[in-house]
Amino acid sequence: MKAIQATQFGDPSVLAVVDLPDPTPGPGQIAIDVTHATVGLIDVLFRRGLFKDVPGMAQPPFVPGLEVAGKVRALGAGVTGLTIGEKVVSMSAGAGTGGYASIYIAPASAVISIERDNIDPILAVAFIPNAAMAHVALTQVAHLSAGETVLVHGALGGFAAAFPGIAKQLGASRVVGTVRASKMEAARKTRLPYDRIVDSADLSSALGDERFDVVIDPVGGVLRSNSFTVMKPGSRLIVAGNASGDWDHQIKSNDLWLGSTTVSGFNAGAYLPTHPQAVRLALEAAVKAAASGLGDMEIDVLPFKEAVKAHERMESRDLAGRIILTPEQ
Ligand SMILES: NC(=O)c1ccc[n+]([C@@H]2O[C@H](COP(=O)([O-])OP(=O)(O)OC[C@H]3O[C@@H](n4cnc5c(N)ncnc54)[C@H](OP(=O)(O)O)[C@@H]3O)[C@@H](O)[C@H]2O)c1
Repeated sequence: MKAIQATQFGDPSVLAVVDLPDPTPGPGQIAIDVTHATVGLIDVLFRRGLFKDVPGMAQPPFVPGLEVAGKVRALGAGVTGLTIGEKVVSMSAGAGTGGYASIYIAPASAVISIERDNIDPILAVAFIPNAAMAHVALTQVAHLSAGETVLVHGALGGFAAAFPGIAKQLGASRVVGTVRASKMEAARKTRLPYDRIVDSADLSSALGDERFDVVIDPVGGVLRSNSFTVMKPGSRLIVAGNASGDWDHQIKSNDLWLGSTTVSGFNAGAYLPTHPQAVRLALEAAVKAAASGLGDMEIDVLPFKEAVKAHERMESRDLAGRIILTPEQ
């Protein structure tokens, strides 16, 4: 099979197209002929070696990529409910690698059909895995109730973009996004179901008296600190990433007492393997949301041979949507 390997830790130039042996599925696994694979900020962090000392993390040479769309190539022993050639999408599972390849092996529990709803595989891979994670975060961690309001930071980012559709599907009364000033033009054009998107630089003046029940924060840093100024008593801040790179960020615990607010972390890589019962329901909700047009976003598709460019663009911070890689030329 064709694959993109991170030949060592480093800048995007460490990514190279290689030929590897075709893998076969073991019991409970599915082999997928990949048509599309997502590029996420987490792939960039893995490639740089940010987590290289964390036990179980992939070491070079490894194939990055967490999520794929494609067609079922082969079913491992014990797998039922899918047929060869059926169009599917797989959310991230296991070691969080292997997606930038023309064949991907996924546990059956992470795979769902997109055939019945006839969902475009590009939209499917860009939205459904993140939307399933958003569903788990909003239902199991934020405990979102119908009628509540949600604020999403870095609103056009890959993971963030899944939240407005799922929040609306769960009955949120209003979903507001925040972006940097340079992305306000893209924010005005977005088809994502935000009620409003504001400049993240000055939340208080942009939002006036508006206060939120749930804040989704994949960004961190100053924006995370500023979130407390726009949270209601009883509200929940979900720490869902650290795109800002501020690894030393701290929260004053007494501010949680005074504001009567809650902070929870959500990391799918840690949560989903220990809460498998949440995954199927979330995947089904994500497919429904995709079929209803709740994940309609900007997506650029690049061939595998442009993986270096794809990572350079992820690092540029100019993206206002997602990048997807395809093994097809
Ligand atoms: N909890 C989970 O299970 C989970 C799942 C997927 C991803 N994540 C995490 O969520 C974060 C976002 O991932 P993603 O794939 O959505 O990334 P992305 O598409 O690059 O989006 C990140 C967003 O964060 C904002 N940002 C602020 N400072 C930034 C910086 N220094 N560099 C890059 N972006 C910056 C950007 O919005 P503005 O330009 O508008 O500020 C950007 O749109 C990452 O930390 C990732 O590890 C977590």
